[in-house]
Amino acid sequence: MTKPDSSPGLRTDHYYLTTPIYYVNARPHLGHAYSTIVCDAIARRKRALGIETWFLTGTDEHGQKIERSAKLAGKTPLEFADKISGEFRALWDRLGLSYDDFIRTTEPRHVRGAQHLFATLRDKGYIYKSTYTGQYCVSDEAWVDVPPGAPCPDCGRITETVSEENYFFKLSAFERKLLDFYEANPGFMQPESTRKEVISFVRGGLKDLSVSRTSFSWGIPVPGDEKHVIYVWLDALANYITAIGYGSDDVQDQKKFEKFWPADIHLIGKEISRFHCVYWPAFLMAAGIPTPKSVRANGWLLFDDTKMSKSLGNIVRAETIDEVLGADALRYFLLREIPFGQDGSFTFDALVRRYNGDLANGYGNLVSRVVNMMHKFFFGVVPDSGAPTETETALRAAAERTITEFPVAFDEFNFSEALKILWTLVAETDGYLTANAPWKKPADRSDADHETLQARVLANAAESIRIITALVYPILPASAAKVWQQLGLGEIQDAAKKTFLTEIKWGGLKPGTKFGEPAPLFPRAEKDAIERMENLEKQNNASAVDAAAGKQAEPMHAPAATSVDPTSAPDATPGEHTATPTTVAPHHTGTPVETATVHPVPPEIASARLATGATDAPAGTPLTPETHATPAAEEEKQFITIDDFTKVELRVAQILVAERIPKADKLLRLEVDLGYEKRQILAGIAQYYEPEKLIGRKIVIVANLAPRKMRGLESNGMLLAASLPPDGSPVLASFLEDVPLGARLK
Ligand code: MSP
Repeated sequence: MTKPDSSPGLRTDHYYLTTPIYYVNARPHLGHAYSTIVCDAIARRKRALGIETWFLTGTDEHGQKIERSAKLAGKTPLEFADKISGEFRALWDRLGLSYDDFIRTTEPRHVRGAQHLFATLRDKGYIYKSTYTGQYCVSDEAWVDVPPGAPCPDCGRITETVSEENYFFKLSAFERKLLDFYEANPGFMQPESTRKEVISFVRGGLKDLSVSRTSFSWGIPVPGDEKHVIYVWLDALANYITAIGYGSDDVQDQKKFEKFWPADIHLIGKEISRFHCVYWPAFLMAAGIPTPKSVRANGWLLFDDTKMSKSLGNIVRAETIDEVLGADALRYFLLREIPFGQDGSFTFDALVRRYNGDLANGYGNLVSRVVNMMHKFFFGVVPDSGAPTETETALRAAAERTITEFPVAFDEFNFSEALKILWTLVAETDGYLTANAPWKKPADRSDADHETLQARVLANAAESIRIITALVYPILPASAAKVWQQLGLGEIQDAAKKTFLTEIKWGGLKPGTKFGEPAPLFPRAEKDAIERMENLEKQNNASAVDAAAGKQAEPMHAPAATSVDPTSAPDATPGEHTATPTTVAPHHTGTPVETATVHPVPPEIASARLATGATDAPAGTPLTPETHATPAAEEEKQFITIDDFTKVELRVAQILVAERIPKADKLLRLEVDLGYEKRQILAGIAQYYEPEKLIGRKIVIVANLAPRKMRGLESNGMLLAASLPPDGSPVLASFLEDVPLGARLK
């Protein structure tokens, strides 16, 4: 086979690429779709180059985080995992992603393989038993080197002290080997920032790693010592080999493993590079298995300047964009707008701007002009183009330049640059059409000359479109398929199977080719597109709105408390579960609340909407209640809608730790448990509550308030209290009945 791939050092006959496997504690959002879409585009290009490609994705289903989320949802961990894993898969199918395999870590093939890996590491003397006491971050499922009570340095959440008899992996034995490995394989991890970070982490010294847990049971049992479960990251990383047959006795599986391993690329989010670039190669080296060829980290997708993530409540769903603009619009936006490897902001505005500018007015409009004119002037049959003039030679040169330059940028993961290069050809083709104006016959041109010009211009423009379409196919597969049909070339999928990208060169569109019917590609997004998407997100997030619209409540993260909203979901009873709001921007609008509005009513009927948050004010500054509202002012007060209210995520939490903060008279540092996660909150109640008396109390917190730093500590939320006149002394909101942790107040 001819060498179809310009990427250095990569095999040219097989290509194995993977996405991270996604945790099933939360449903998929754009951040997850981003990694999977990038892999899909790469996989499609590789296949179209004639390379046998294996594209793996899947779900990571074990561990304490999932066990807790399932408990909160009143489901068994497997029932819970089945549901969310199914949602990931359904979304990938809806978006048309061309994965070859979807692994779930609860599948027998994976369990068997992960146990085999563990046993191999133990047999080779790299695993031993010892007792361990340390801090564990449940959210990251990672051991962290911080003092008890300190937050996780990666995600800022409160860590838990864990003291267990564990199996340990001799990671310390791999410090030198890893550094040598990185040096010998400079392309192993990219981008450069990831490489530097990982190397400095390893240079800082590697401690042995605890690779089993005994304090919970939702995991893969350690072979021969079943009270232990395998550490979830060892379990999860193993998916990359178990999915292609590692640990299986079946000959076909073994052949597959030999064919595809080592992986060409693990595409990951930058926050999990330590696991992929340190632990994973060390496990493999210890087990005597070749290391993957490369690990490539993508940046984060931000929404409102913060990483899109369920716990911050600022996610956008891929389904919304698919519904309004189509999956290709999302693919184009993600790959064009964000330089790969860097963080990038998602906004509906930017999405629609790109869509209208580049797709509707750019590529879409070009195709529509040429296809329509071909039908109008040549009955849809490609004419003989005749001899090229200077303008055709220039167009051809531009196309040939693109054929050379686009793959270089694409294969270096420079997708944005690749698309920029390709859109230069779109603009050049457009300019070529406009300059030659085949739709307009000047008075001094004979009919025969005009027909010659039309034939030449339309055939050449159509050829340029053919090249653009073939190149863009991995990124816009659905739209490229439509254009291919309109150009009379049949199914692009069939062409893609025949290595059409390897063979692409100028002159492939033959005279006599019968064009397909014109069909709209990217209808212009009208002004209401943004509003429609925003509304879809709102509807999705507000279960009350969902119920009112007769829709099914969204899948579930936390139990709902008794609803106070008459339109709320009929199933929103304690113990049942409704949607967690997802797109609430993590902005705390308005001034941070010290004590909230005090109404001129007796304390016994004081409104419980009062919030007691932390204050930035230096210790000693009096807490100043706001001016009492007069009844007249009250009457003039603007109403809020249910939508406004549902933006505020109020939840039940239990105080685990409460302590004073040195030199801050008014602040208490609280650690609270929401059931699905633990957090630190700073509250300005130190003058009213003895910290010891608060421990174990169930309170109400605003869970989706943007994190704030005070006195060097991060506060992740705000607790609610009635604020009593005359001095605004707080009385914590609480419940007469027992309520589950994490329950939503609506
Ligand atoms: N289960 C682990 C990965 C195990 S791989 C052996 C995990 N799961 S995750 O669901 O939390 O995240 C998986 C990946 O989703 C991230 O690494 C990243 O690729 C992607 N993203 C999730 N949120 C994201 C953004 N906001 N932006 C970009 N990608 C993000 O970590």
